Amino acid sequence: MSANNRKASRLPTSRIQFVLNSPRKIKNAQAPLRKLVGTTEGKRPGAINKNSSFSLKKKNTVSIIGNKNVRSVPQKASLSNGRSIPFESSYTKKAPPTNGSFKNVRSRIQYPPPPPPLPLPPSPTKILKEQSAALKAHLQELYKEKEYYATINAQKQNEIQEIRRAQEEYIEEIENKNQRIIEVQAHRKELEGEIETVMQQTDILLVEKKELISKIDSHKNELETKQNTIKQQAETIESNSNYIQELTSNLQDRERERRDLHNLLQDLKGNIRVFCRVRPPLPSESNDLAVLKFPKELPVNKRISIASIKINYLGKKREQFKDYEFDQVFDHEATQKDVFNEVSHVVQSVVDGYNGCIFAYGQTGAGKTYTMAGPSDPTPETEGMIPRAVGLIYDLMQNLKAQHWKFKMEGQFIEIYNDSIRDLLAINPSSSSNIKYKTAHDENTGTTQILNARTVNLDSPETLNRVLKAATQNRAVAATKCNARSSRSHSVFMIRLIGTNENLNETRVGSLNLIDLAGSERLSKSESKGNQLQEAKHINSSLSHLKTVIEGIRKDSSHVNFRDSPLTWLLKNSLGGKAKVLMLVNISPLEYSRSETESSLDFATHVNSTHVGSTIRKN
Ligand SMILES: Nc1ncnc2c1ncn2[C@@H]1O[C@H](COP(=O)(O)OP(=O)(O)OP(=O)(O)O)[C@@H](O)[C@H]1O
Ligand SMILES: [Mg+2]
Repeated sequence: MSANNRKASRLPTSRIQFVLNSPRKIKNAQAPLRKLVGTTEGKRPGAINKNSSFSLKKKNTVSIIGNKNVRSVPQKASLSNGRSIPFESSYTKKAPPTNGSFKNVRSRIQYPPPPPPLPLPPSPTKILKEQSAALKAHLQELYKEKEYYATINAQKQNEIQEIRRAQEEYIEEIENKNQRIIEVQAHRKELEGEIETVMQQTDILLVEKKELISKIDSHKNELETKQNTIKQQAETIESNSNYIQELTSNLQDRERERRDLHNLLQDLKGNIRVFCRVRPPLPSESNDLAVLKFPKELPVNKRISIASIKINYLGKKREQFKDYEFDQVFDHEATQKDVFNEVSHVVQSVVDGYNGCIFAYGQTGAGKTYTMAGPSDPTPETEGMIPRAVGLIYDLMQNLKAQHWKFKMEGQFIEIYNDSIRDLLAINPSSSSNIKYKTAHDENTGTTQILNARTVNLDSPETLNRVLKAATQNRAVAATKCNARSSRSHSVFMIRLIGTNENLNETRVGSLNLIDLAGSERLSKSESKGNQLQEAKHINSSLSHLKTVIEGIRKDSSHVNFRDSPLTWLLKNSLGGKAKVLMLVNISPLEYSRSETESSLDFATHVNSTHVGSTIRKN
């Protein structure tokens, strides 16, 4: 119970005035006060209850006509319009309390004076308008706020999407990394296995290393011993090398002596030497052989006799022998090697720095090409003077290397056909007929070269073989009645050898001409006609000039006309001066060829008696 109510319960019950706290509201409501509701209602008889009557007597004053025991103060009054008004917690006592019962006593509530009037509230329309405006403004703000939040929302959505994407990427990355981790783990396992193996191998290697170290140690000792030995040997070598140098210088002196003696010997033998070779009869020729004799008495192997049948005045047949003597005579049994043994002296002279000339002379089919080049399919036994000469030069060059000689060998291979020069080594032989070839003599070195002809470096036996093959193919070959493989041109293989010795500050230049002359048969016999007749005429004329030149040299004539034919002009340096000339006269063993054979032997005898150079030839 509140403090007010406690006070009220002690007040006399005859007349009680209560003041309404909101008389204006009651007035405006214009509704009769229906009842008063008090907390003491029903506490005891005579308390204000639903049967108590009351009325609004004065403004703000409620009179309650209650039962005699009305002691409670209502707390609120209910109006007929359903509203309730609370009472002020004060009261005014208008009449003194009476003793006895308050039967049908009217209580009156004295209201306090009304408060000053409140300012008039604004009109509802205005309020509504203001409220509407406020609401609109509020709504605007809300829209703005909505837009703002929509923007924020969109941003946030984007952010969320970004985050999702990033999240997906992270997830993917994590998956990849997981995968990678699995792979790495597998690889790690493999590596661990490998490490294991390597460690095992390392263990093995360590053991091996240990063994090796011990071996190295023993080798070191060995090496030390050997180094000492080497030191001793080096000392020996040094003293030996001094000795060798002495020997080399001696050797060079001996070599010079040998060279001078060899040259003297060649001079003594004669600078023009003539060999005669009889070829063996071919299987088809055994019925028609000439009578040839090779007398065995002194001088051995230097004479040949050929018989001619003479009929005396009694009609008797008689063999009459004609004797010839040369520097060497090779019968039909002589091999290529036998011939080369004698030829090799000229080759030696060429390496010594002289000019040499070896030519094969003889009628068609007498064996000139066989002697010079060898057969078309040569073997080491049958190969001719050209490959043998080059082979010997290679060997001599090799030997001289020890004496610090360096050599360069080059070659040209030409033929003189109908008095004009053709290059047998031309890369394009068909166009070589348009090229003008010219013989050029070098007076300083005393060698000869053909201008515009191809020069080949003869640096190996293989190159030489190629050169010989090419030359053989290019060589003009025309069939004649005398020999199916007849060569109708003079072929000249010109070798130039340049040797230098830096130690001795010396240079040697030598040249060697290896010549396979065209057949020397007489025109009447070869039965040549047309082109072949022309060929034969040129051949005979050039051979006749050769004979004249050699005769001129023999007579020591101051003017020898080498220019008369391309052949003699070409051989100028290798026929005159200190040149070593070797003529191989090839003869046929046939009776049918006897007159040609005699003619060749006469020519050779003529050459044999010729003096060349400073020394007079002695037999
Ligand atoms: N010493 C020999 N041993 C064996 N066969 C030989 C000998 N000399 C020549 N012949 C053979 O005789 C034939 C004629 O020889 P080759 O061709 O060398 O004569 P040629 O003098 O060069 O003739 P041409 O002047 O016509 O060229 C060839 O079949 C050759 O093989
Ligand atoms: Mg020939």
